[in-house]
Amino acid sequence: MAQPQPKAKDDGPRHVAIIMDGNGRWATQRGRPRLFGHQAGARRVREIVEACPDLGVDYLTVFAFSTENWKRTQSEVAGLMNLFRRYITREAKSLKANDVCVRFIGDRVRLDQKLVSMMDELEALTANCKTVNLTIAINYGGRDEVARATKRLARDVADGKLDPDAVDEETLPKYLDTCVLPDPDLVIRTSGEARISNFLLWQSAYAEYEFIDTLWPDFTAEEFSTLVEGFGTRDRRFGAVSA
Ligand code: FPP
Repeated sequence: MAQPQPKAKDDGPRHVAIIMDGNGRWATQRGRPRLFGHQAGARRVREIVEACPDLGVDYLTVFAFSTENWKRTQSEVAGLMNLFRRYITREAKSLKANDVCVRFIGDRVRLDQKLVSMMDELEALTANCKTVNLTIAINYGGRDEVARATKRLARDVADGKLDPDAVDEETLPKYLDTCVLPDPDLVIRTSGEARISNFLLWQSAYAEYEFIDTLWPDFTAEEFSTLVEGFGTRDRRFGAVSA
């Protein structure tokens, strides 16, 4: 069975995933409503996407809304959904012009139909873009993703399309939302919390982590670049021993 191969020491991360945390605290520090922080956070996404090509980052995945975030107040949830719609409307042209291929991961069943159609349209509009692959996780949870993948896999077994004895660790990822993406090399979480919060659980088995104190709306392309460059100095052994 193919095992993940260690990359050369000076290789940068090809896929960076980010848990964009701290919008609420950023807004509260300014005496503003939480949504003000989310709006500032949405603007940061553009800056970080635009920094990717020069840093050699081909894939960027951002955690925008988790399966647990429905527990927030109804007005914050509605405000976030509205922000996602506005982001798509506002950014579609420039994403396409910058050759950014956009994908969404997460369970779409609970999202409103208007938002789902806009997500489908943006994916179709940017499907042939190649410079950066931006994946936005909305109503995403790692455990939920594995459960949904397992359900599809079980259906294929029941339908006689998949032999249960042939199932190995390369089978399940083909059923995950991220099936066309490489695993993340580096996962960044802002705002001083050192948790993964159900983000890309299967995919991050060998990722390096950076937990930084900066609140997401203050996260700059410069800090992103420092983290990406710092990654090149890490010794990733994937369970093997250094040469
Ligand atoms: C976590 O901060 C952030 C979120 C739950 C929402 C993330 C959304 C954005 C950055 C904006 C929209 C993104 C896109 C791609 C359009 P928090 O609210 O938990 O902050 P706190 O821990 O300080 O309360």
